[in-house]
Order: sequence, then C-alpha cells, then structure tokens
Amino acid sequence: MGILEGKRILVTGVLTDASIAFSVAKIAQEEGAQVVLTGFGRLSLVERIAKRLPQPAPVLELDVQNTDHLDTLASRVGEHVDGLDGVVHSIGFAPQTALGGNFLNTTWEDVATALHISTYSYKSLAVACLPLMKEGGSVVGLDFDASKAWPVYDWMGVAKAGLESANRYLARDLGKQGIRVNLVAAGPLRTMAAKSIPGFKEFEDSWPEKAPLGWDLADTAPAARACVALMSDWFPATTGEIVHVDGGVHAIGA
Ligand SMILES: NC(=O)c1ccc[n+]([C@@H]2O[C@H](COP(=O)([O-])OP(=O)(O)OC[C@H]3O[C@@H](n4cnc5c(N)ncnc54)[C@H](O)[C@@H]3O)[C@@H](O)[C@H]2O)c1
Repeated sequence: MGILEGKRILVTGVLTDASIAFSVAKIAQEEGAQVVLTGFGRLSLVERIAKRLPQPAPVLELDVQNTDHLDTLASRVGEHVDGLDGVVHSIGFAPQTALGGNFLNTTWEDVATALHISTYSYKSLAVACLPLMKEGGSVVGLDFDASKAWPVYDWMGVAKAGLESANRYLARDLGKQGIRVNLVAAGPLRTMAAKSIPGFKEFEDSWPEKAPLGWDLADTAPAARACVALMSDWFPATTGEIVHVDGGVHAIGA
C-alpha cells in the first residue's frame, strides 16, 4: 500500500521531465494516487512528457492568468475524478528584467507579472479547486527560501516571500474546511525555470558545498517526496508550514 492510496491529486507545472512537478506526479502515482495534470501553453509537449509517467494522466490547460481557465477548472477536473484530496502548485515565472541583478531597474509591469503568476496564483488555484475538496485535503506549493536576499533571484525572491505569506493566510482561511496548506522550499534544481535565471550558476556552484547533507542539482525526487508526504495522511496536523528540502543550507550561516 502506497501512502497516497485512493487519493486524487491535481499536479500543475509539468513542462519537461526535469520539472519538479513531473517527479511529484510520478512518485504520487507510485504511491497509489490517481493524478490529473495541468499544463500551460505547450500542451502537446506536456502530453508527450505525461506519457513517460508510470500510468496515463489526463492533461488540462491552465494559464493562471486566465480567469476563464480558473473558473472552469473544477468542472474540467471533475470530468476525470469525483473530488480532490491534494493540489500541487508548481508554477513560477518572472520576466528576464526581474532577475539577474537588475533589481533597481525592474518596472512595475514586470514585477506585477511575476507576482501574478508566482504568488497570487497560489490563492487562485486553491480557490478554483475548493468545489472538489469538500472533504478537506492538502495544498502544497514549491518555494525557494525567501528569508534572505540571494544573488540574482531578485523579484522572484520577493514573489516567493509573498508566497510564504500567502501560505500562512491560506492555512488560516482553509483550515476550517479541513484543508492543510504547506510549502516545500527546495534547493536549486536544473529545471527550465532555473535555466531562465541569468546567473543561476552562482547557486549551482555554492549550494552542494554549503549543504551539510550535500545537494544534487539534478535530483528533483527529494523535493517531490516531501510534496507527496505532505499530501499523505502522515502530516494531519501541519499547516501554514514551510518544509526545507535543501540539503540543510537554510540552517547554516554563510
Ligand atoms: N528549480 C529550482 O531551482 C527551484 C527551487 C525552488 C523552488 N522552485 C519552484 O518550483 C516550481 C516549479 O518550477 P520548476 O523548477 O520545476 O521549473 P519548470 O520550468 O519545470 O516549471 C515551472 C512551471 O510553471 C509553469 N507556468 C509558467 N507560467 C504559467 C502560467 N501563466 N500558468 C500556469 N503555469 C505556468 C510552466 O509551464 C512550468 O510548467 C516553481 O514555483 C519554482 O519557483 C524551483
């Protein structure tokens, strides 16, 4: 018996098989879950990647900036599963001008895009899924430790600080409905999102050295396993929490 046996899980954010979301979907299926995916933009690519999962998973279109997509999400997901026990938010984006050391010059329009897609959408996605979570459940998002200012991460760091706060407010407001809301703060991983950050190499060079447990930049499984654990019945009284899956870097002085 897997730890997600009988659970119905919505996983957003699969783009390539290096995506953290791909690993979450794979491990969730291995642990017994029925998985529905959402993809953004290149749906045929996401469908092709989905075929590499242990079992077939339907792929639905979701652009978190599109209110029609959000308004119809529950009914579209409802065509495949009769409810949801878990929802994974694995979505992030910031325009190039908002990253890479240009913090003082980024326009509000570009910051707004980063916040809309990377922060506000955590709330939008959770609320869009509420009609399917009548019996409670678990919402999990992907974070990058926002307690400090990092090199090059810039406005994405601000977006993640907002995500951490939104996590606490969602936990406050959804607790009465039996819904737990938690983040997994992963260390740097070589995904498409990471490759689009100019200067990401700075993290790549220093993280494995700083981490007490070491850190494999190509292994999304540790972060994915934490997401799966948080959606299981093994964290029944945990909400508003940030679980660091970073080899221990957050705990260590520079
Ligand atoms: N890679 C890392 O180093 C790292 C570390 C910690 C946290 N994270 C977070 O993990 C999450 C997943 O990123 P990843 O690293 O797996 O990269 P990824 O590029 O594989 O995934 C990012 C996803 O965001 C989706 N997306 C972008 N704009 C969207 C929109 N408007 N609507 C819906 N989806 C949209 C993309 O389609 C993609 O699937 C992000 O929140 C990211 O910030 C990544």
